[in-house]
Order: sequence, then C-alpha cells, then structure tokens
Amino acid sequence: MELKIYEYESLGSTNDKAMQLVKEGCKEGTVVISHEQTKGRGRRGRDWSSKKGEGIYMSIVLRPELSPNQCPMLTLVAALAVTKVFLEMEGVEAKIKWPNDIVINGKKLCGILTEMSMNGMEMEAVIVGIGINVHQKAFQGELQEKATSLDLESGVYYPRELLQQEVLKEFENYYKRFLETGDFRLLQPEYESHLVNKGKQVVVLDPKGKQEGIAKGITTKGELIVETEKGEILVSNGEVSVRGIYGYV
Ligand code: BTN
Repeated sequence: MELKIYEYESLGSTNDKAMQLVKEGCKEGTVVISHEQTKGRGRRGRDWSSKKGEGIYMSIVLRPELSPNQCPMLTLVAALAVTKVFLEMEGVEAKIKWPNDIVINGKKLCGILTEMSMNGMEMEAVIVGIGINVHQKAFQGELQEKATSLDLESGVYYPRELLQQEVLKEFENYYKRFLETGDFRLLQPEYESHLVNKGKQVVVLDPKGKQEGIAKGITTKGELIVETEKGEILVSNGEVSVRGIYGYV
C-alpha cells in the first residue's frame, strides 16, 4: 500500500476530510492527519475532544474488495496495530476493550471510528479514523474518570510524528495479513491475548435487552463470544456496546 499523507493544521474531522477525498477519487493508502479537530467525532454520535497538538487525529482510506459486513473487522485490525505500538513503549501496558477501544488501567487511550463510503449498493471505500490521547496533562469533567494519555501513563515524551509513523507501519502489516483470508483467522490469537474483557463478566447492551455473561474471546469474524446463563451468544461489532459490570472496562 503506497501511503499518501495529507497534513492539516486544523480540520472539522479527519474522517470527513477523508470522505471528501474518497468522493474525489483518492487512492487506497491516502492518510489525513490534523493537529486539531473542531468537530472530532466518536462512536455513537459522541464528540471526540481534539485539542491542538494534544492527540493524534488520523484517518486512513482503504479500498478493500470486501463486502460491507466484513468491514467492521477493519476496526479490530486498527486496534491491534495501535496496541502493538503501545506495547513496544516503556510502561504502556495497553489492552483492547472489544471491539476497538484501547485502555490502560481502566482508562481509554485510543478510540477508533470506522466508516464506510457507499456508492449506491456498492462499498467504494472504508475510512478508519484513529484518535490517540498523547500529550494531555489532565482531562475535564466526566473524562477524568474515563480517559488518559500516553504522557500521563508512561511519563515519557513520545513525539506524535513518530507514533503516527509507527501506527501506519503496523496497520499496513496487520491489514495485509487480514486481507490474506478476509477474516480474523490469522489475527485472532494475538487479538485475544490483548483482550481486557477475556474471562471477565460483561454486560451486553442490545436494543432488544440487556444480557450478562463471561467474555470468552472472539470468533474469526471478530464477534465477541459471551457465555450467558442461556448459552453462548455472539455479539457483532456495531450492534451493541459492551460494558463491564464494574467501572468503565
Ligand atoms: C470512539 O472511541 O468513540 C472513536 C473515536 C475516534 C476519533 C478519531 S480522531 C480521528 C478521526 N476523526 C474523527 O472525527 N474521529 C476519528
């Protein structure tokens, strides 16, 4: 994958800019990076705090030959890549909270927002948006309990430019391996080894109701396997949110 990086001082959202570039016909490997976002978006319509110079705000354009239902797995691919980069740093014992939050000591360090660009019924591109908290010294309001940054956790100053490069390099590696099978067959053991939910009690918040059980791991399609009183259920990415009974994780 040949990378073409577009860097901006300020954008509304790097995912929106990437979407615009997709509509203009940009290639796979186009990367949009901004030093701040004025309308950073999180999952489920939430905002993503994106102050200047504090975090990494980056979106990668992919044009895989996959069906739309395979695309949520790309979020897990990105989570794996970012976790790998964190684990190579000193004192950053990062874990993945299924499907795609990266946490450390129960607080969130990175979030991923994957969006598809459709052209009629056809999927023309996937945009993987990655937000990493790097240099924040403190968080305000409810984020105090829920968010953390690399500076706060490691006490070491990792320049954003270097991290960006590492994340892109690892993403390319895992993306290639994922495309070999188009599913999580090859990546499942590694993903599960980082899964903070594994063996823990989780609450699955489904529009149809709430279910509790023990998270066992993931399937080759990236679904979370949860052992409930009524038997095993498979939770798909995007349909539900999974919360631990105690605390954020
Ligand atoms: C989440 O955990 O809710 C996902 C957060 C994703 C944030 C990133 S920052 C770069 C990209 N552009 C956005 O507007 N959002 C994603």
